[in-house]
Amino acid sequence: MKNPVYALLISMKLRAKILVATIVVVSVFMGLSLYQSLVINKKTAMNQASEFSNHMLDNIYSAIRFPMSVGDEKTVKEQMKDVKEHMDGVQVYIADFDRNITYASEKERIDLSLEKCLQKDDSRNALVKALATGKTPGISFLETESKDPFLVTIKPILNESSCHHCHGASRNVLGAMVMKQPVKNLFATINYTRNRLFVYFAAALVGMVVFINFFFSKLVSRRINLLKEKTSLVAAGDVTVETVDDHQIRSGACPATSTRWSRTYATGWNMPTA
Ligand code: HEC
Repeated sequence: MKNPVYALLISMKLRAKILVATIVVVSVFMGLSLYQSLVINKKTAMNQASEFSNHMLDNIYSAIRFPMSVGDEKTVKEQMKDVKEHMDGVQVYIADFDRNITYASEKERIDLSLEKCLQKDDSRNALVKALATGKTPGISFLETESKDPFLVTIKPILNESSCHHCHGASRNVLGAMVMKQPVKNLFATINYTRNRLFVYFAAALVGMVVFINFFFSKLVSRRINLLKEKTSLVAAGDVTVETVDDHQIRSGACPATSTRWSRTYATGWNMPTA
């Protein structure tokens, strides 16, 4: 069976072929770089959000560490209330080593299992691992809660000598802090940048295709078409056809302004007489 793409290529004119080839090549290369830009843009934005969460967790922990070490629960609860009131949509949880929530910005979730506030297995597993090892997971986790996207960051709370007085010295890890940062606005910004990149790339693509096509048509197709016209005239028996090669004239290679086809054909060939 005939390959339809091949058949189509054969039937296309030279200019159309060049146009299609230009579109394909330019789209492939620009598509790849567009894809790369989108990936890098999203990764950078998510890394920044994750870094922000880490900083916030460190700040909140250093603010509650002292009141905690003197058993001042009231101040810790006030801190959680502050998070709820002043940090739009941010959720902070402090849980014990059994993952039961002791303090939280979301009051109604106190005493629940922290795992209930995490939607995905990878963040739940990371929490279990952080409590067991005392090491921060090093990455944040993306999940959705009631259709809104959140970035989950986990920080284990380690036992220190100042804590032994009340918590004992048997455990290395006393609990964990978890922060859920809403990233809906961040996603909106990422999408906005993505759409703008799409428009820029589409405009650049059209510009390049038009330019390359114009360039080819000026340099190649027009000349070939001219040649085709003249040769068909010669083939039809007209031996007085004249052609001007402006490239040769411009480069000074041919001082004469025209070449007589008749000269070549009349002397070289035996033209059939009609
Ligand atoms: C004066 C006693 C006291 C000291 C010292 C103390 N805590 Fe606590 N801590 C408490 C009490 C009381 C609670 C609340 C327990 C509850 O309500 O279940 C608590 C709760 C916690 C929780 C929440 C999880 C849980 O076990 O309920 C963490 C985490 C925690 N403390 C960490 C620390 C750290 C870290 C230090 C040392 C820097 C420290 N604490 C020092 C008394 C103390």
